[in-house]
Amino acid sequence: MGRTLTFRIFRFNPYDEDSVSRIQEYQLEEVPRLNIFNALNLIRDDQDPTLMFDFVCRAGICGSCAMMINGRPTLACRTLTSDFSSVIELFPLPFFKLLGDLSVDTGVWFREAAERLESWIHTDEEFSVNETEKRMDNELANKIYESDRCIECGCCIAGCATANVYPDFLGAAGLNRIGRFMIDPRDERSNETWFELVSTYEGIFGCIGMMACEDVCPKSLPLLDTFAKVRRLMLGTGLSGKK
Ligand code: SF4
Ligand code: SF4
Ligand code: FES
Repeated sequence: MGRTLTFRIFRFNPYDEDSVSRIQEYQLEEVPRLNIFNALNLIRDDQDPTLMFDFVCRAGICGSCAMMINGRPTLACRTLTSDFSSVIELFPLPFFKLLGDLSVDTGVWFREAAERLESWIHTDEEFSVNETEKRMDNELANKIYESDRCIECGCCIAGCATANVYPDFLGAAGLNRIGRFMIDPRDERSNETWFELVSTYEGIFGCIGMMACEDVCPKSLPLLDTFAKVRRLMLGTGLSGKK
């Protein structure tokens, strides 16, 4: 017979003026290979239809189900209950706007970051649908792909001390994003433009390099490598004044 799990779950509805923040407990019989996402669905189906949490893909791809599981930001759909003792605490990600219980709005923050960093290819080259795509060196394409694997789950922001103190900090996800465009030869932005975008304490120089982001990133992105490259380029540009 499986264990009886106790889930201690943060409850609060910011849109209900009568709602009071509290921890609510639920019990559930553990079954083999039970993950937190499925446990939450069972609780919502059988015990409490008012429980709020997010999911879309159930496969670690969409980033929607990120939450604090026993104090660590991670994906509910990729986390087995068997990794924990029989008491499991669930909280929403800090930093992001709370929508209710375990549900937060990461979308507004990621959209604002994308607009702030202008995270699209900047080029004067005319685009023609009739031309074949330009080839790119495989090694470089793989490097760009590594950064592009970010699923915008927000775990790195939730786990970052700087982001939680300075709301304007770009965070690992933002810095990873800009690192991706910096190495893309199709983006014609100058070093000086990158410098203006990220050589601030809200940008790369606000990062204190304690690696929490890389530790919690569910996609294991090489974030610190990317930051080191961004930092080196920015220091070089700042010292030389080169464009
Ligand atoms: S290494 Fe930088 S971005 Fe990552 S958690 Fe630490 S301060 Fe935040
Ligand atoms: S860098 Fe990793 S932790 Fe941060 S948003 Fe992307 S996938 Fe999530
Ligand atoms: S539901 Fe999509 S990452 Fe978990």
